[in-house]
Amino acid sequence: MKDKLYLMIPGPTPVPPAVTAAMSRPIIGHRSAEFAALIERVNEKLKKVFQTKNDVFVLASSGTGGMEAAVANVVNPGDKVITLNTGKFGERFGELARKYGAEVDEIKFVWGSSIDLQVVEEKLKADPTIKAVFATHNETSTGVVNDIKGLGNLVDQHRAVLVVDAISSMGGMDIRTDEWKVDIMVSGSQKAMMLPPGLAFVSVSPKAWNVIEQNKSPKYYFDLLKARKSLGKNNTPYTSPVSLYYGLEAALDMILDEGLENVFERHRLLAKATRAAVMGLGLELLPPLEYASDTVTAVKCPENVDVNNLRRTLLEKYRVMVAGGQAELKGKIFRIAHMGYASKADVLLTIGALEMALNECGYKAELGAGVREAQLVFLGERD
Ligand SMILES: Cc1ncc(COP(=O)(O)O)c(C=O)c1O
Repeated sequence: MKDKLYLMIPGPTPVPPAVTAAMSRPIIGHRSAEFAALIERVNEKLKKVFQTKNDVFVLASSGTGGMEAAVANVVNPGDKVITLNTGKFGERFGELARKYGAEVDEIKFVWGSSIDLQVVEEKLKADPTIKAVFATHNETSTGVVNDIKGLGNLVDQHRAVLVVDAISSMGGMDIRTDEWKVDIMVSGSQKAMMLPPGLAFVSVSPKAWNVIEQNKSPKYYFDLLKARKSLGKNNTPYTSPVSLYYGLEAALDMILDEGLENVFERHRLLAKATRAAVMGLGLELLPPLEYASDTVTAVKCPENVDVNNLRRTLLEKYRVMVAGGQAELKGKIFRIAHMGYASKADVLLTIGALEMALNECGYKAELGAGVREAQLVFLGERD
């Protein structure tokens, strides 16, 4: 028998048994009254998790489909937009906007740091024709969380709409879509939302609808006006992934039953313990503590350790899968996710395996030193 796999990567993440069970229910017609009632319930529950009064559209695509829907419905060829690049996923918004013909002012921040609001403010003041600002809430590639509240307050004073990717934080972190004045919030299923890959979620504000209604970019599957018309009848324009909807309702029920504040607190605690543990092993975090993510921890790999070897050892010997770095961070960092269906025991187990793997890869980690730090956090003995 192969040992159990511990999926500690930032998506896809483990799916709770209740969600898997819900997805095994018999398929029903996607145009039936029963399915319409499910769509209506799911929309209401999604609004609670998104902390928005606006509708949240469910798209049958991975998260990038949600990002593309936002771009395709907002950007007209020649529009000026700002994209904020704090890592691989912020960079993606720039790529998408260029594909749709935007004149993109891509502001790149050092990967591992967060957005500098002053820079954005200056750009917006200098050019009142900017149509949209695209940002990432939780930059999975660097483990950085950006100040979307601050950004929302800033963008709100201008005509630009604010589009935010919360693909790896929604369902795990406190994201106040309306209060933070985010016009289009995008998320995805396979991370803190505890579902298999395959769904994207997109909320749209009245300010964004004004822009979308004027949009001329070619689009078909991701036309949000069509999606709005359908959702008005508790329907979707095309065949819905029925089983994923069953799972979505089960996952949303789990989140809402636990209580949003408890979910956020659990993620805060797991992140705090993971950070304390890796620092207890003498390792360095990529981002500074003040904007380290609650759903994924990015750790600099010690100089004398080959990241690929470390990850391979963790996977082959202990069946613990962690992620590596992407693009310019490849070979430099590894990332431990603690999002969605994640518990204290997952962190303790991962850190225990990491201590062994580090030693096997040439880094002298004191056995138990990381686990102990995590335990102290869980016991409430670390501020
Ligand atoms: C912040 C962020 N944005 C976008 C994506 C892309 O999502 P997907 O791979 O589901 O298309 C990811 C996936 O890792 C992500 O973490």
